[in-house]
Formats: sequence, C-alpha cells, structure tokens
Amino acid sequence: MIAVGSDHGGFGLKQEILAYLKEKGLEYRDFGCFEEKSCDYPEFAHAVAHAVVDGACEKGILICGTGIGMSMAANKVPGARAALCGDCFSAQMTREHNNANILALGARVVGPGLALKIVETFLTTDFSGEERHARRISQIEE
Ligand code: RB5
Repeated sequence: MIAVGSDHGGFGLKQEILAYLKEKGLEYRDFGCFEEKSCDYPEFAHAVAHAVVDGACEKGILICGTGIGMSMAANKVPGARAALCGDCFSAQMTREHNNANILALGARVVGPGLALKIVETFLTTDFSGEERHARRISQIEE
C-alpha cells in the first residue's frame, strides 16, 4: 500500500500519479487534499509520514509546489526518511543508500513525464542493504 498526499500545489500532479499507480495495479491510499482549494501542506505530510512509519503503508509519495515544505514536514516524524527528488538518479540513490521511505515531488518544478519516471524509479529500487548505509541511516535518528 502506497500512501499519497498533496496540497493544492501538488493536487494536479497527484491525480496523474494516482492514475499511474492504478494502471500499474499498485494499491494506494489518498490522504488528501481532495480539491485545488488552498490548504496547508503539513497536515498531509504528517498523515502520510505516520502511515508509513506506523507500517500501514510501505512507502509514501508527497507532492506540493516545490516538494520542499512536504519533505521538511514529513521528516519531523521520527522514522520518516523523505527525499525530495527532481531526477531519476537521486530517486535511485535515495532508495539504495538512504532507504528513503517517502518521495517528495515539486509539481511546479518537474513536469508530469519526469515525475512519473521518478515515481517508477523510487518504487522499483531496493535498498542496497550494505552495512555502511544501514549504519549511516541509524545515525540519522540518534
Ligand atoms: C503553496 O503555494 C506552496 O507554498 C506549497 O505547495 C509548497 O511549495 C511548499 O513548500
């Protein structure tokens, strides 16, 4: 199960991402927002981050205008490792090296074509499991 959330700035791209997940047969839960009316991104970032950290969802995707506010807010939840990615290399590396559990995207930064490739990369790349990376990740929470 993939937790997905956005504010008004990410609402349009979120609809494209939800359609992509559906087409791929991937289960998701949409934590809102549910319209383009102005709203506050921390509410959705926290809801998605808690769903991931609590184990209800395996991974999360958060979208706002830049992806910055969403990543900042999500990373306040202990255990959340939200990575703001604007390219596929970063999405691959943050899975392999950081075991990121949440992808943050900026809908006003990346176009929908690139955003979907970033989502695909993020969802299909496994953590390397290498000791040095596991050690560094555990140090994040210290
Ligand atoms: C909303 O205008 C915008 O500030 C928000 O979507 C996001 O970019 C914040 O980081």
